[in-house]
Amino acid sequence: MNPDHIVLAVAADQPGPKISRHIFGQFAEHLGKCVYEGIWIGEDSPIPNVRGIRSDVVAALRAIKVPNLRWPGGCFADAYHWRNGIGPRAHRPLMRNDTWGLIETNAFGTHEFLDLCAQVGCEPVICGNLGSGTVQEMRDWVEYLNAPVGTVLANERAANGHPAPYGVRFWGVGNESWGCGGVMRPEYYADEFRRYSNFLGNYEKTRLYRVATGPAVDNYAWTEVIMRECTNPPYNGAVMDGLSLHYYMNGLTPPGKVARSMPTTDFGADDWNRVMAHGWFLDELLTKHSAIMDRHDPDHRIGLVVDEWGAWYLNDSGRPANEYFQQQTIRDAVLAALTLNLFIAHAERVSMANVAQVINVLHSMILTYGEKMVCTPSWHVFGMYAPHQDAARLPVTSNAPLLHHEDGSYPRVSATASRAADGAITVTLAHTDPAQPVTIELTLTGLPSEASAKEGKILVAPKLTAINTPDAPNQVAAKPWTDFSFDGTTLIATLPPGCVAAATFR
Ligand code: AHR
Repeated sequence: MNPDHIVLAVAADQPGPKISRHIFGQFAEHLGKCVYEGIWIGEDSPIPNVRGIRSDVVAALRAIKVPNLRWPGGCFADAYHWRNGIGPRAHRPLMRNDTWGLIETNAFGTHEFLDLCAQVGCEPVICGNLGSGTVQEMRDWVEYLNAPVGTVLANERAANGHPAPYGVRFWGVGNESWGCGGVMRPEYYADEFRRYSNFLGNYEKTRLYRVATGPAVDNYAWTEVIMRECTNPPYNGAVMDGLSLHYYMNGLTPPGKVARSMPTTDFGADDWNRVMAHGWFLDELLTKHSAIMDRHDPDHRIGLVVDEWGAWYLNDSGRPANEYFQQQTIRDAVLAALTLNLFIAHAERVSMANVAQVINVLHSMILTYGEKMVCTPSWHVFGMYAPHQDAARLPVTSNAPLLHHEDGSYPRVSATASRAADGAITVTLAHTDPAQPVTIELTLTGLPSEASAKEGKILVAPKLTAINTPDAPNQVAAKPWTDFSFDGTTLIATLPPGCVAAATFR
């Protein structure tokens, strides 16, 4: 077999599981310049805004069809007390954000977050405070958000400007409770999860989707205990809807190399390959955690919610250590495409995911520089993958060889195909080899006879370490992809090294 010639086949007329749009979710934490500067600039800012929220950022998030946004953390969630963030802003307490070593003004609170979600057109995902809060505080927040006017808390919400219930569905019951969220043992957390969840109300048509803190990376023992103890508790058997999983491709985990010391943009082939290997390790994680979940929940009622994932490198030089500001290259875009392909491959179990984080922190979609803003290469990937949202996954076969790094193996080309409600077939391809081009021969069976390839896009960089900056915002940007032949059944193309491509057939 010629490793530079890969043969793929898509069965376009086959049924497949729905790819939840919620696996393309985002995450915003009160960390670095994510919320303050990235989102919230205040109504008096000279930067265009709507009720204090940056309009350029909202437009960029709308453009990639963000389905949901998780907030306020992360670790910060287990230190956050929601009452500090409601009511007149002038009266909100100025306090320390101990989690990330910042000053917290509380200017961006519940109403501002939900206004942001409304402006973006996405669903909110709120992570409640189990670590330093109380059951009463968390259940009151849910009532404040979701109860119809008539109770004291709902009336307070109305007095603060929002009479209609917000209808928040997605609810995290703590975050990383094995670590920053309280350093708990799984048995202890399981009981806490059951206790807290039991008091979180369902209001009107809003049935909460309660997400339990899941494992870090490969802590299968945690998954086992939570699934055993929370899947079917005797009194309230449907108390858990989702189990979270956090995985940063930072190398602190099996396969075991410390890549967090890697810079964002100064890398060679070995570091590229290492990141790809750590990215593809997610396949093993999803497979093994799913196998445990299958034993306890064979009907797949409970979703695996990967509510934090992404590349975690060294801070960019000149940035404070607690900002976690990372520039991004095509390496991160290919990693994002590989990761989304894996979520889609595991769509039977993965119900939601959130890349960390949406703006100015870690694997972000957007970087702001004062009044300027740039979209990262990963933003382009999320845009190219948008046609997969809520589409039916299609079977793909491939003879792509594995590439090998000492930390693990990963496919030379990874592909996903789906059929949208309007019949459009979209194929996305991630090419992981940083040095050699590859020829692909992609055959689609079951297409309508008059189908043609339309709306092709390719994301490729002038060099692997190229970045988008305010002065050169489109160095790494998706461009029309027309450089292929298509005879109605087979697409033949040469993909350049390290790229992401997408084609839609109608
Ligand atoms: O995303 C940054 C941090 O990483 C989150 O706050 C925490 O949950 C994780 O450890």
